[in-house]
Amino acid sequence: MSLQGKVALVTGGAQGIGRAVVQSLLHSLAKVTVVDLNKICGEECKTHLDAEFGEGNCTFIQCDVSDGDSLKDAFQRTVDQFGRLDIVINNAGINNEKNWEKTIQVNLTSVIKGTYLALEHMSKEYGNEGGTIINVSSMAGQNAKLKEPKAENNRVEELEAENPQLKDLESGINRLEVLEDEMTSLK
Ligand SMILES: NC(=O)c1ccc[n+]([C@@H]2O[C@H](COP(=O)([O-])OP(=O)(O)OC[C@H]3O[C@@H](n4cnc5c(N)ncnc54)[C@H](O)[C@@H]3O)[C@@H](O)[C@H]2O)c1
Repeated sequence: MSLQGKVALVTGGAQGIGRAVVQSLLHSLAKVTVVDLNKICGEECKTHLDAEFGEGNCTFIQCDVSDGDSLKDAFQRTVDQFGRLDIVINNAGINNEKNWEKTIQVNLTSVIKGTYLALEHMSKEYGNEGGTIINVSSMAGQNAKLKEPKAENNRVEELEAENPQLKDLESGINRLEVLEDEMTSLK
């Protein structure tokens, strides 16, 4: 499928899944802004992408997505540089159980902010041409499971071993209730 003429913004695009998505978009002839916290990886990524797809098709913007002003600026700079915005992929994510507040900022709040910014720049309601928003998450969001902190997770695994029926996804709510009762009795 050709995405010629389309412009995409990918957060967390310098490494991992985001980088693979950026490559795929460039392969489909879109222009792409790579938004990432990691300056070294971002610059290295741009150098490789320029070599593979030609200069002028992608740009790197260093940005912490949890900084609302920086994220807003990244969207504006994309439109200023490429003239439009059609695809937004809110992909940046971390898994840091010790700094759970930052994790929520990056994995949840920034995704909501990125979605609103995408609407601002793409929605027909604001006089734009419409577009596509993809918010990357984890299957863990659909399969509720007490996972962290690790000590509690060990206990969850023990409980599941003692009660094999709790592993049945269909009984997710019952499983959580039983596990929560067990957790409460441990405190
Ligand atoms: N890899 C998996 O198995 C898996 C599983 C479930 C969900 N996910 C989700 O997929 C997405 C990508 O995961 P991945 O495995 O490619 O991760 P990764 O760690 O390989 O890459 C994440 C990228 O996001 C960037 N980043 C981190 N914090 C940022 C911030 N505050 N601002 C801007 N950029 C930031 C990092 O620098 C990195 O380049 C994440 O949202 C993750 O939660 C991945």
